[in-house]
Amino acid sequence: MTKFVSILGLTAAVLVTGCAKKEQSTAAKAEGAAASPAEASKAAPASEGATVFEVTANDQMKFGTTRLEVKAGATVRIVLNNVGTIPKVAMGHNIVVLKLGVDPLQYALAAAGAQATDYLPAARSGDVIAHTKLIGPKEKDEITFTAPSEPGEYPYICTFPGHFAAGMKGVLVVQ
Ligand code: CU
Repeated sequence: MTKFVSILGLTAAVLVTGCAKKEQSTAAKAEGAAASPAEASKAAPASEGATVFEVTANDQMKFGTTRLEVKAGATVRIVLNNVGTIPKVAMGHNIVVLKLGVDPLQYALAAAGAQATDYLPAARSGDVIAHTKLIGPKEKDEITFTAPSEPGEYPYICTFPGHFAAGMKGVLVVQ
């Protein structure tokens, strides 16, 4: 069954590759107009009062942006954009923003065993400020939440097994 599902995933990936190219170049143009494509930690212009960030995730298990700076109490929107091509069963990504003082390694270890809930352990839901869905290639998901009132460096990680250890992490800096 697992093999069957992965084959389906691969087929879907191959099918979307053809039309994804055009989409990608359009997205790249739009990004270039909005901000420098490199390590952009500056927030995009506010829309509806929210501080908006786009964070890419790729097949190399890296986030495109690893430092997001916001004001305490601000409305924050994070758009996760999976720019990879590997099927979700093998290379899914999410963003989980953790509370201050939560050890991201311990959270990631607990999450690795929570496949049934897309690697979000129910027993540790109290450790989480906000999280996206687990997404596959060429998918996006976004979260909107209120930045904590307490300044500090809040870790965010991808909880797909092995990704945190591979460096898929960043910090939400609340000032
Ligand atoms: Cu990941």
